[in-house]
Amino acid sequence: MKADVFTLFPQWFEWFRSQRHVQNALALGHTVDAFDFRSATPLKWGQVDDTPFGGGAGMVLRVDVMEAALRERYGEDPVSLRSHRRVVALTPAGRLLDDALATELAGEEELTLLCGRYEGFDERILEHFVSDQISIGRYVLAGGELAAMVVLDTVLRKLPGVLGDDLSAVEESFSQALEGAPEYPHYTRPAQWRDWAVPDVLLSGHHARVEEWRRAQSRLRAQRPLP
Ligand code: ADE
Repeated sequence: MKADVFTLFPQWFEWFRSQRHVQNALALGHTVDAFDFRSATPLKWGQVDDTPFGGGAGMVLRVDVMEAALRERYGEDPVSLRSHRRVVALTPAGRLLDDALATELAGEEELTLLCGRYEGFDERILEHFVSDQISIGRYVLAGGELAAMVVLDTVLRKLPGVLGDDLSAVEESFSQALEGAPEYPHYTRPAQWRDWAVPDVLLSGHHARVEEWRRAQSRLRAQRPLP
């Protein structure tokens, strides 16, 4: 996957790129590149935003600035870009990110993420340049950067070879393998700690019974979410 992030804070992504699973993805030939849309602005003094028409608090990211950045990177009109490339704006009111959406995005060869700041994007950016709006929850962050990292984190770990064991990303909470249910509980050594014992079945060595117990636990958690 070739992932491009447009942001006013490209340096934030240096930390993200240094994380182990992201490093694994990069070593496999995937890319995560961050572009500063301020560097492409056609306006003076690096201006990227402006006051909202009609008045109100905050600043709004300008459509001409976003167009200049996308044109510089892709060499085409951003209106046609979204017909052959997923161009995602991170917005609090967008489609809620879940495992199914992450799996869908992991199937893309190329992905563009636009991070807003201030009051958000001029609506024409969302209407004409963007194929998707994604939210990581119904709350407002100071900007889209952390949301973009959350999206990339969950998408990259689904790519073959990125996790130590590919199966870790198959049978996990909310996955198809668990019929969308939360994952079953895990235990490791010591088998007994204070008076807390690991369930006997997990120590039994009986593979089929372990499987059956895990499925049942997972289903139970779906009916009765954790506190
Ligand atoms: N930008 C600001 N808040 C956000 C959220 N909750 N999800 C995605 N992008 C955002």
